[in-house]
Amino acid sequence: MSEYTKTCVVWLLWFLLCVGTINLCLCNSLSSATCWEIERQALLKLKAGLVDPANQLSTWTDEDCCRWSGVSCDNQTGHLTYLNLSMSGFNGKIPPQLGNLSILEILDVGYNNWFLRADDLQWLSGLLSLQHLDLTSVNLTKSSDWFHMIFRLPSLSVLKLSNCELHSLPSSIKNLYANSTRLSVLDLSYNDFDSEIPGWLFNISSLTHLHLSRNHFYGPIPNVFGNFIKLEVLDLSSNTINSTIPPWMFNISSLTYLDLSFNNFNGQIPSAFEKSYIKDSLQILSLRSNNLKGNLPDILEQFRYLRTLDLSNNMISGSIPASIGRLLFLSKLYLTGNQLNGTVPNIIGQLSDLKVLDLAHNSLQGIISEHHFTNLMKLEELDMSSNSLVLNVTPGWVPPFHLKVIELGSCHLGGYFPKWLHTQSKFIALNLSNTRISDTIPDWLWNLSSQVVLLDLSQNEIRGMLPMSFSSTDIEDINLSYNKFEGSLPRLPSRPWSLDLASNSFTGPIAFGNNEVFLIHLILSNNKINGSIPSSICKLEELAVLDISNNQLSGELPTCWKNLTSLMAVNLANNNLSGEIPNLMCHYSDLKALRLSNNSFSGEIPSSMKNCTSLVMVDLGQNKLHGNIPTWMGESLSSLVFLRLRSNFFGGTIPPQICELSSLQVLDLADNNLIGHLPECIGNFSKMIVNPNASQRALYIMEYGVLAGDFGRYIFPKYKYSLPLVRDGEEREYTNNLPLVTNIDLSDNSLVGEIPEGLLNLLGLQCLNLSGNYLTGNIPLKIGVMQSMMTLDLSRNELSGQIPPSLSNLSFLNHLNLSFNNLSGRIPTGSQLQTLNDTSVYMGNSYLCGPPLPQECPGDGPSQSPSFTSKENEDEGGDIQEMLWLYLGIVSGFILGCWMVWGVLFFKRSWRIAYFLVVDDLYDKVYVTSVLGIRRWKEMKGRRT
Ligand SMILES: *[C@@H]1O[C@H](CO)[C@@H](O)[C@H](O)[C@H]1NC(C)=O
Ligand SMILES: *[C@@H]1O[C@H](CO)[C@@H](O)[C@H](O)[C@H]1NC(C)=O
Ligand SMILES: *[C@@H]1O[C@H](CO)[C@@H](O)[C@H](O)[C@H]1NC(C)=O
Ligand SMILES: *[C@@H]1O[C@H](CO)[C@@H](O)[C@H](O)[C@H]1NC(C)=O
Ligand SMILES: *[C@@H]1O[C@H](CO)[C@@H](O)[C@H](O)[C@H]1NC(C)=O
Repeated sequence: MSEYTKTCVVWLLWFLLCVGTINLCLCNSLSSATCWEIERQALLKLKAGLVDPANQLSTWTDEDCCRWSGVSCDNQTGHLTYLNLSMSGFNGKIPPQLGNLSILEILDVGYNNWFLRADDLQWLSGLLSLQHLDLTSVNLTKSSDWFHMIFRLPSLSVLKLSNCELHSLPSSIKNLYANSTRLSVLDLSYNDFDSEIPGWLFNISSLTHLHLSRNHFYGPIPNVFGNFIKLEVLDLSSNTINSTIPPWMFNISSLTYLDLSFNNFNGQIPSAFEKSYIKDSLQILSLRSNNLKGNLPDILEQFRYLRTLDLSNNMISGSIPASIGRLLFLSKLYLTGNQLNGTVPNIIGQLSDLKVLDLAHNSLQGIISEHHFTNLMKLEELDMSSNSLVLNVTPGWVPPFHLKVIELGSCHLGGYFPKWLHTQSKFIALNLSNTRISDTIPDWLWNLSSQVVLLDLSQNEIRGMLPMSFSSTDIEDINLSYNKFEGSLPRLPSRPWSLDLASNSFTGPIAFGNNEVFLIHLILSNNKINGSIPSSICKLEELAVLDISNNQLSGELPTCWKNLTSLMAVNLANNNLSGEIPNLMCHYSDLKALRLSNNSFSGEIPSSMKNCTSLVMVDLGQNKLHGNIPTWMGESLSSLVFLRLRSNFFGGTIPPQICELSSLQVLDLADNNLIGHLPECIGNFSKMIVNPNASQRALYIMEYGVLAGDFGRYIFPKYKYSLPLVRDGEEREYTNNLPLVTNIDLSDNSLVGEIPEGLLNLLGLQCLNLSGNYLTGNIPLKIGVMQSMMTLDLSRNELSGQIPPSLSNLSFLNHLNLSFNNLSGRIPTGSQLQTLNDTSVYMGNSYLCGPPLPQECPGDGPSQSPSFTSKENEDEGGDIQEMLWLYLGIVSGFILGCWMVWGVLFFKRSWRIAYFLVVDDLYDKVYVTSVLGIRRWKEMKGRRT
């Protein structure tokens, strides 16, 4: 296991053990009676059946079983009534012997590790006194009888089945299990329920707590006005419920906690509250990440006793009203990601209980002064980033707070590092990205506490060198990219797992510190780094993203390269690297992108690459590689979307296996020594067959949206794929639009034969360049069906015959080159072709005639009109094109890089969830490094699911 993973696991286990131990101690001290022999025997049998690697049951030996850890007896009768086996690291099957403890009232086997399972729950039928059952994180996949066994228990009042891998609930229960009406706590969160919420769940009027969060419930909320007379806690977050919020929910006078976040609730927040009871009880309200509209005042007037209000990621508009000052008990206010505008009222500075103030990602404007913070003594988390706010405080200001999280990205800070920051000695995260600072970094910033986790100073004009102490920094996530730092690259620090120094002017070679290095994400692109890549890089076992592109690196890649088994994306493009491409180890890794272009690599493509079956992008262009294009490329790299091998010395024919790459969108083999025919199967690239009408295009975007997951910054830094492509005759780097690009470029080879008819299948192909070959025959007559075509270059071949008139149907065509062939006859006119009336498109074809060429066709009068460009037509074409680019623009980017981190930290689903469950409960108390990003993570996860 890696060091990073170890750290997480150790932390988690330590935490679980502590809590576990506390539990065990508590129940021990309560028991005083001695135990019954029959129950002692049953317990010993149970012990024999449990897999107990942590040896938690070592005390289960002596006579008095009431003193055993996790066991608690009734202090009158001596019967065993309480068995707590939670958080003890048991695995294997829950022993059915448990069923012999018929007197049991409380059974808690929750939060063991994720391997504890039950294959059936028959044994439950003996436990008729059971009132409290906690099976959290027990794998019940195989217990098809779970529902019938559990809901038959007559005395059950607390039932926790969170994270049990459950899939379905019965849609109705008739009268079968009416005896469950004692049920007060029901927790079915973190399962895989994939249905509408069954109405009977909302008919259990005895419930005080109902947790259905993090499932796949969809559809509307059942309408059950008046049933929930006792409900205190309702958590439906992270499903895909898409009704409006039913007004009855706001009439449950006992409700203190309502969490409807991460759904698709739409419409307005219900505002008819005259009769609402909730206003005097509700303390926590989260409607985060829905589709709610409306203004803030409605809600602020109602809930006077709110402590937490989370409305982030909705479409709430208008300004923040001064009535916010009425929420006197407010401790956490999240309004991020809405459409709020106007200024931030000063009165916010009077909310003296406020700990979290999150106003990020709105359209707020105006000046934030110290008056906004007058009484915010308790403020810990301040996020005002991504607005148009100006932070203007008097120079000597000493804030009343000690912040842990300072997010001021995109705020205008007046050119220098704010002095008051110096007073903030407790911060964990500091984001001053894009704040127009053109200062040097003050020394105190580096001398700050060792607890800083995140430092983002990117996109400023910060000058100077990095300090000597940089290499010993403890910060975990450093982003200094897009600044004006200079000087030699400091020794790379060992602690961070993400370091982004891109787009500065660092010089000198790369050197790592001597310590063990945890880097997962290392971005040094666009600097002036020289020297070779040191073999010490192979110590970076966790390295997932490595981008040193656009520097002056030289020499060979270290041969130990194959030790980098965590790599997911490598970009070394645009350097002077040479030698052979080293073998890649892909048995463990998930290498998705490999870019080595524009270097001097020689030799053949290493056959070890065929194991890298996750590759999405291979860019080896502009090197000195030779040999054939390997047939295994088509056979093994089935995820490949972008293949760029241009400007090398590859020879031989194009292997037909390449057509098996059904995800391929970019095939760039230009400028090599390829011979033979175009493969007949070239029309098989199914991604390029997509017909680009708007709705399908949108779907296509969604498909990528999943792959392009942006999991927020704290835990998952972004990394965007980019790729240079020649379209319109010019090479440009594509990043955000890359997922939507389709390109075939086979130009400047020695290909012969005709253009295969199969090519016409590629209705989604936008750019086809076959120029500079020896192609013969006609241009396919029906070429006009390729409706997505924007660039078509068939120049410098030996094509003959007429130009098919259907060419004028290509309404997106903006670059056409048919020059230097043997084409003949009249140049077709009409539609799109009229906008391309440039002689260079057709020159070098001796027998072509008609405009725009000066040659008249036989029988024509003197040429009338280069004035055939109808203005109307042009505008229409322009509109369509703009629309298309609008669609392209919708994609936020092709982001990678997060997946490995995901893997490291969350390599087991239930492990991950158990972790978060624990954290959920103790959120306020456990404010440690690893937890910092969890709020974000949950938000992002919710958005995906
Ligand atoms: C038994 O336990 C209950 C609470 O569980 C306590 O109130 C009572 O005093 C105890 N009785 C004895 C004899 O310890
Ligand atoms: C739960 O059990 C099922 C069947 O035994 C198994 O396929 C699945 O992987 C288990 N889940 C976890 C997280 O171990
Ligand atoms: C269920 O409850 C009913 C009363 O509502 C009672 O008559 C019946 O005995 C109970 N059944 C069980 C199995 O406890
Ligand atoms: C909810 O989503 C379903 C599909 O998942 C859709 O059929 C239904 O119209 C949606 N309802 C509302 C109110 O948006
Ligand atoms: C805020 O936006 C609304 C539209 O949502 C607009 O009517 C209003 O004028 C804007 N207010 C300010 C202060 O910009």
